[in-house]
Amino acid sequence: MKTILITGTTKGIGKKLFSLCKRKGYNTLALNRPKFDLKNPNYTLPRIYKNINTIVLNAGTFSRDSLREFSFKLSRGILETNLIGNMLLVHKLVTEKRLAFEPLIVFILTEDLLRHPSLLQEEYTYAISKKGLEYFATLLENSLVSRIRKVYLPLVDTQMLDYSLPITGEILSAEQAAEIIMEVINGTDLPSYRPI
Ligand SMILES: NC(=O)c1ccc[n+]([C@@H]2O[C@H](COP(=O)([O-])OP(=O)(O)OC[C@H]3O[C@@H](n4cnc5c(N)ncnc54)[C@H](OP(=O)(O)O)[C@@H]3O)[C@@H](O)[C@H]2O)c1
Repeated sequence: MKTILITGTTKGIGKKLFSLCKRKGYNTLALNRPKFDLKNPNYTLPRIYKNINTIVLNAGTFSRDSLREFSFKLSRGILETNLIGNMLLVHKLVTEKRLAFEPLIVFILTEDLLRHPSLLQEEYTYAISKKGLEYFATLLENSLVSRIRKVYLPLVDTQMLDYSLPITGEILSAEQAAEIIMEVINGTDLPSYRPI
């Protein structure tokens, strides 16, 4: 049976994915704040985690961050959460060899924001953090440390979506996003998923 670890299941896509995995009968584990904070490197992972065979790196943050009102603190928080925090978690799980199996690692990424020039102008750091995470996933893929899946989501209707931004195009529900991720978890030969 699959044992799936999902980060950030308190709301949004992670919450829907957690319920879906439970309904499918998977042994489903969650990592959430305050015990697990991607910005805090001092958390410890329980021993049972060694049986995990699928990890969904879902937790992430977004904040409007245009260069016009650049905030160092805000930008650092986004990079620490979306990029460095995920790198550290993979390091703790995979490189420190806590796992009994070679895990499937699913990266939740964002469709190319260059397709939304007006949106991109408002959120440089988020876009950069997700591109950095994608690059990290590619490096892992190339080093054959693990089996990697990249899921490129379009905009999804969660708390993260800031409707005051100039949004155009397709918007998925959190349930639809969770179903896409589930398809990827169950797929055998799908290296990445772009719903566009
Ligand atoms: N919504 C979109 O349009 C969209 C599009 C493409 C990709 N994505 C990606 O999809 C993923 C989920 O996003 P969402 O839309 O479901 O967002 P969301 O509703 O804001 O949920 C984010 C989740 O991540 C957790 N989280 C945030 N910062 C954290 C930290 N420092 N440490 C641990 N957990 C943290 C949150 O926990 P708390 O409850 O503690 O805050 C929450 O559980 C993100 O990686 C996001 O970049 C979203």
